[in-house]
Amino acid sequence: MRAPVLQVRDLSVHFRVESGGLFRRQRHVVRAVDRVSFDVHAAETLGIVGESGCGKSTLARAILGLVRAHSGSAVWLGEDLVGLSEEQMRIKRREIQLIFQDPQGSLDPRMTVGDIVAEPLRTFYPSMSRLQVRERVQGIMKLVGLLPDQINRYPHEFSGGQCQRIGIARALVVNPRLVVCDEPVSALDVSIQAQIVNLLKDLQKKLQLSLIFIAHDLSVVRHVSDRVMVMYLGKVMEVADRDSIYLRPRHPYTRALIESVPIPDPVKERARARRSLEGDIPSPLNPPSGCVFHGRCPFAIEQCRREEPGLETLDSGNQVACLRHRELPEDAADEDRN
Ligand SMILES: Nc1ncnc2c1ncn2[C@@H]1O[C@H](COP(=O)(O)OP(=O)(O)OP(=O)(O)O)[C@@H](O)[C@H]1O
Ligand code: SF4
Ligand SMILES: [Mg+2]
Repeated sequence: MRAPVLQVRDLSVHFRVESGGLFRRQRHVVRAVDRVSFDVHAAETLGIVGESGCGKSTLARAILGLVRAHSGSAVWLGEDLVGLSEEQMRIKRREIQLIFQDPQGSLDPRMTVGDIVAEPLRTFYPSMSRLQVRERVQGIMKLVGLLPDQINRYPHEFSGGQCQRIGIARALVVNPRLVVCDEPVSALDVSIQAQIVNLLKDLQKKLQLSLIFIAHDLSVVRHVSDRVMVMYLGKVMEVADRDSIYLRPRHPYTRALIESVPIPDPVKERARARRSLEGDIPSPLNPPSGCVFHGRCPFAIEQCRREEPGLETLDSGNQVACLRHRELPEDAADEDRN
């Protein structure tokens, strides 16, 4: 495998929050991201999945320096991004760009599409002439499937899917090496989602980009990812190549997430004994002891309540954080879902 461009090690982000009434306020620490480690390689897509609140966005924001990490490192091409000043981080953002979830909301409604896409160019390449900027913007608009003569129009004149294409164009215009996509399709109609996922996949190949693709849904991530990282309550549960994660998931939480993805064939879907993911996600203000998943895990034993599993690297290079992963029954590969 190619050398990692990004090496995240033991990265933690803590938020201080208060709860209670007027007279008995209590202070808590939310461990939104808790000692997370992973690599992203050149020209690979890492999918990050997990239920709402598990820390996906906070992790992305910490890598980009938009929220301060409490501890750990995020080494980008040999340089730790944690602890860089705002100005140093601003320079790095030419290489690492972010695509947001809400395509319409993330575009300034008072700016033309041309100006929106050109803005990062003006920031990072102030010596570019107007003609060069215009040519670059029109070229990138074409690349993402927009018409170059739409540059004088405003965001409200575009559909949600087109707005996301504008967001992608804006991210790519400065030739980044890593693009962090935080749920780039969750705000879109299902019919449009596949178009944007396919566009990102094509662009990743064509431009040899590294992508971090965040989603709730394992089925969305499957089509773009080379590897998938599963998070729960701020921690990494499993990291594996795409085929292993879908066909031989090791962690009970990954298994439950896969179980909850419907099979497209309605007859097979009805015949399938679906094991739903039971129980609520525990409060991050008061996380469980031991394995954070023990309260919802069908395989939990007493030891799981006391002992926290570390992230173990298997012979395959995949990683899993479960005390019992070697004892669990093999799950039948469910090719129908693919
Ligand atoms: N600024 C903040 N102050 C306090 N707590 C925060 C803050 N931002 C996030 N959190 C908490 O950190 C945890 C992780 O939130 P985060 O938004 O990263 O989750 P997520 O996985 O992206 O969720 P979603 O899928 O809903 O987008 C949550 O418990 C959230 O309430
Ligand atoms: S450590 Fe125990 S509770 Fe946690 S996932 Fe494994 S079996 Fe389940
Ligand atoms: Mg989020």
